[in-house]
Amino acid sequence: MPADDRPSRLKKITQNFFFHIHSPVAHPESLKPTTTFGLGVILGCLFLILLVTGLLLMLYYTPSVERAYASVKDIVFVIKGGRYIRNLHRWAGHGMVIAALLHLLRVFYTGSYLKRRALNWNIGIAMLIITLLLSFSGYLLPWDQLAFWAVTIGSNIAASMRELTDVLGLTAVFDPGGLVKRLLIGDETVGQPALSRFYMLHVILLPLTLLVLMGWHFWRIRKDGGLARPAGTEVRSGHPRAGPPARSIKAEKEAPIKTKDLRVTTWPTVLWAELALLAACCAVLMALAFFFDAPLREQANPMLPENPAKSPWYFLGIQELVSYSAFTGGVLIPLLFLVFLVSLPFKDREDRYAGIWFSDAKGRRLSIYSGLYAFGLTSFLLFINIQFGWMSDWIAGVPRVVIIFFNPGTLIVTGYVLWSAVIRYRTGSDRHAAMALFTCAVVGFVLLTALGTWFRGPDWEFYWLKSWWPAH
Ligand code: HEM
Repeated sequence: MPADDRPSRLKKITQNFFFHIHSPVAHPESLKPTTTFGLGVILGCLFLILLVTGLLLMLYYTPSVERAYASVKDIVFVIKGGRYIRNLHRWAGHGMVIAALLHLLRVFYTGSYLKRRALNWNIGIAMLIITLLLSFSGYLLPWDQLAFWAVTIGSNIAASMRELTDVLGLTAVFDPGGLVKRLLIGDETVGQPALSRFYMLHVILLPLTLLVLMGWHFWRIRKDGGLARPAGTEVRSGHPRAGPPARSIKAEKEAPIKTKDLRVTTWPTVLWAELALLAACCAVLMALAFFFDAPLREQANPMLPENPAKSPWYFLGIQELVSYSAFTGGVLIPLLFLVFLVSLPFKDREDRYAGIWFSDAKGRRLSIYSGLYAFGLTSFLLFINIQFGWMSDWIAGVPRVVIIFFNPGTLIVTGYVLWSAVIRYRTGSDRHAAMALFTCAVVGFVLLTALGTWFRGPDWEFYWLKSWWPAH
């Protein structure tokens, strides 16, 4: 072989690595940008960027209550390029949460949990939870006011079970809420045990677990026969029944139809597409890091509560629900949604819809109607609550247990479930019912998150504008 034709060492190594992750062939349907929007690859790229920038930050960060804040200030103001690396890390972290949520939407709406993909769907859910925990655990590390009070709120949400055990008079003997909170922050309030735990979770345990799950996730895609794609995307070849002639016309009719193999090789097209996505992620993050600084407020002061104290944005929907009832908002509703997600591929087995955006024309229509319905119902109940208060404002002495099970949050969820049941009854389809419920949940999540982010001020009161907040 002439020297020029020999694959270079670098090419060999790249190819070897590439084929450890990718199948040598893929269906053109899977390579269409509108099938995945590249979200899974974007997630992988963001994770890589987080690992590199995180390792650099670790060189200077000190996880102690006395030194944490000062070490972050050193990174930002003293160490050359430190501010930029911190910004990159922060924006990539938010990007990963957003991309994971969008990837969940794409996988759901293309019915890609169908056709025996239940395991990979559930691996994905575990990865989503770990991504949220990774982001949340990183939130505390700068040890500024924002971090301290956001995590204080988060740890109180973790103890939400206490509302129910308090009502039942059980907390003194049975306190699972307190146990979860203690496991999380190691104390009754956020302090050194919490910082040590969060650091250990953030730099070792969660990234390693995510890395292992990622490997499993990618391997499962290959084991499941590549990405889900619509039935009938294969084209029958000119000679449908190749092989030895069938012994009778009936046998011929029943013989399996050979389909033309439309798959195309992945090397090097997919590699180029992935490198382009990596370059795009780097470019966007670099621009963000250049123009926007990650927040760093005053040093954490446990004696000076923030008002309002807000959790990270992706938990603000839950914080809003918790403001109605800690137990239903912090435990019951998130748990019910998780059960829905986990059990979805076992309940909905309408494989004919796998790989098709919104399943069919009916699915598209009912997703729009579900979105409008959820928007109307949720806005209406939020309006009532904001404008007129709730039961304890109307009737004196309403028992707490009534509020726990009868509040805007539980009414919203009941409305969603009833709607989904009606769709199930009308269409007879589990897939359509699941799409109705999922769409409602997405709209509810967006509305509650927007409310918590932009319209809640001191004492969790509603304000149209931040400039209307009372001075304190
Ligand atoms: C958080 C980190 C995650 C990473 C890095 C990741 C990565 C990927 C990649 C690279 C793909 C193939 C290409 C694509 O779909 O874009 C994929 C597919 C898939 N992901 Fe994820 N994913 C993550 C989270 C999730 C979540 C939250 C779910 C859903 C609960 C999920 C469920 C799936 C499923 C079922 C497939 C196969 C889709 C199909 O057959 O079409 N993944 N993922």
